[in-house]
Amino acid sequence: MEDAELKSQIEAARAYQSLLVPSLFGAWSPRIADVIDTQMEQRHLDVACGTGSLAREIASRTGSGKHIAGVDPNPGMLAVATELDSEIEWKQGAAESLPFADNTFDSVACQFGLMFFTNQHQAIREMLRVLTPGGRLVVCVWDTLAHNPAYAASVQLLERVAGSPAAEALSAPFVLGNKQTLSELFTTAGAKPISISTQTDRASFPSISVMMQSDLRGWLPLLGVHLTDEVIDQILTEAEQVHDKHVDQEGRMVFNTSAHIVSALKPV
Ligand SMILES: C[S@@+](CC[C@H](N)C(=O)[O-])C[C@H]1O[C@@H](n2cnc3c(N)ncnc32)[C@H](O)[C@@H]1O
Repeated sequence: MEDAELKSQIEAARAYQSLLVPSLFGAWSPRIADVIDTQMEQRHLDVACGTGSLAREIASRTGSGKHIAGVDPNPGMLAVATELDSEIEWKQGAAESLPFADNTFDSVACQFGLMFFTNQHQAIREMLRVLTPGGRLVVCVWDTLAHNPAYAASVQLLERVAGSPAAEALSAPFVLGNKQTLSELFTTAGAKPISISTQTDRASFPSISVMMQSDLRGWLPLLGVHLTDEVIDQILTEAEQVHDKHVDQEGRMVFNTSAHIVSALKPV
């Protein structure tokens, strides 16, 4: 990879770590870790680890990063993860073909990654392959847009001002929100028994503008949607009204989010 490309990926990962992890994603790591048996000598894997929020949460519970690994295809994410904890083993790779031997881990977890995998069935089979028999698989995905109304309002705004490709890109993280479909995905891949716990949290961004720009300038370009500055300015202006009810006394944008935590076992 070109130096310039790697640099820009690291920069994007730093922005992700400093804004999106504290505002949106980070709060889910303790909830996922609660479902895992974090005994000292067990081995744990964080799939689609990003900058490593979940892997570090597990390390804080086991007392060491030595028995923990994180895997992600994005070298920028892994560079930032390494800066934050050099004891955890960070590996580049895709969920559909995990770079680990069969039966390596006592738990495999994935926080807000599954909806982006090109082959979700294959990814779940891979996560089961690297688990020891009887080991636990824990996967967290966003609930439907109907249960994440702040994002639903942003999607409607984008549809109106920027068109369907932008609205579809913003909807992508919510495509696994249907519990029945989610459950079937795990069953057909061979995981059982399965339980799904739906939980809510409060996301908190510094302002409406920061929240919207994290999607417009940070997320949409990753899905190939590049909006002009003019369109972005129009969306930001209208967002002030659309999200008015989500602003607290300090001017922060605060809103409810809902996600499913799937817990399953690899059959013995
Ligand atoms: C929303 S981020 C979540 C990161 C992290 N788990 C967190 O909660 O902060 C989604 C992650 O999925 C990763 N990803 C995308 N496609 C992937 C694939 N096929 N296999 C593994 N990870 C993938 C991205 O690189 C990104 O780091």
